[in-house]
Amino acid sequence: MFRARTTTGATGHCGPMVRYGLTAHYAQSIGPVDQARRHTRRVSAHPVLASVVERLVAAGCVAASEEAAELVAAAPDEPTLGEWIRRRERGEPLAWITATMVFCGRPLHLAPGVYVPRTQSEELARRAAALLPDRGRAVDLCTGAGAVAAHLMAQIPTAAVVGVDIDVRAAACARRNRVPTAVADLAEPLRARGGIDVVTAVPPYVPTGELRLLPADVRRYEPRLALDGGGDGLDLVRRVIEAAALLLRPGGWLLMEIGGDQDRAVTPALAASRFDLVTPWRDDDGDLRGIASRATGSRA
Ligand SMILES: C[S@@+](CC[C@H](N)C(=O)[O-])C[C@H]1O[C@@H](n2cnc3c(N)ncnc32)[C@H](O)[C@@H]1O
Repeated sequence: MFRARTTTGATGHCGPMVRYGLTAHYAQSIGPVDQARRHTRRVSAHPVLASVVERLVAAGCVAASEEAAELVAAAPDEPTLGEWIRRRERGEPLAWITATMVFCGRPLHLAPGVYVPRTQSEELARRAAALLPDRGRAVDLCTGAGAVAAHLMAQIPTAAVVGVDIDVRAAACARRNRVPTAVADLAEPLRARGGIDVVTAVPPYVPTGELRLLPADVRRYEPRLALDGGGDGLDLVRRVIEAAALLLRPGGWLLMEIGGDQDRAVTPALAASRFDLVTPWRDDDGDLRGIASRATGSRA
């Protein structure tokens, strides 16, 4: 992230960017770090690399060395490199510029306009993969670039995994990541009612009133559709719960990313839709990162 453009006062541990997990994507999106480091060693005496680092530092880029190495490694020629540096100086996400990033250790295609998957969502992807049986069926609602779905497909190759996103750019990106993806409002197009083993979702969950506290670069570049969760941040989350209750088989699992203290409101909503074994999880700093729950299949 670019310090100079970051909203003052929103960088603290309890600020909404951290509460809703939206600080990490620039540092996380530096992409194939090993590749970049190898390249850095090769070109450490390279004056071009040194000048790129200098420009990114001047722009307030926190991970300037790593990002410079990635830009230099990925740019096909000098004019492209120059344009890429200018875009990065303006605060555009690195993953949009290089069209790639790493999620759960694998390269993922990214495109401008598509939400950049965050590091904290990897935990959700790993938990979901552990719950998806061989030859199981999974639906990733709000799939974006398909990061979570792609991880499920890689971990359980015999499983049938589909993504859904309302944004055509996101769906195109997910398909490029080999995730079969429907463009739709949540689960509308899915006919597999009651037969799904795992539903995952990283829905927009930032309360509308807290969007202004996000880093300026996030607000300027990332689609509001991917961030704005309505008044309490839970408009889409509630709809995901209702959709998942219809999709899941009894004993199937719903895993959603949420933040702040949203587990307090989400837990009763899950109970009302007949989910049990409600299990929130937190990161190493104690911040809420997601919630898992099991469909009982019982109907009111
Ligand atoms: C926070 S992003 C998460 C994307 C992806 N799961 C990830 O972790 O990178 C939320 C995504 O939800 C999509 N979205 C928003 N409203 C939706 C709706 N009603 N139905 C389906 N997708 C929706 C947005 O287009 C965006 O791609």
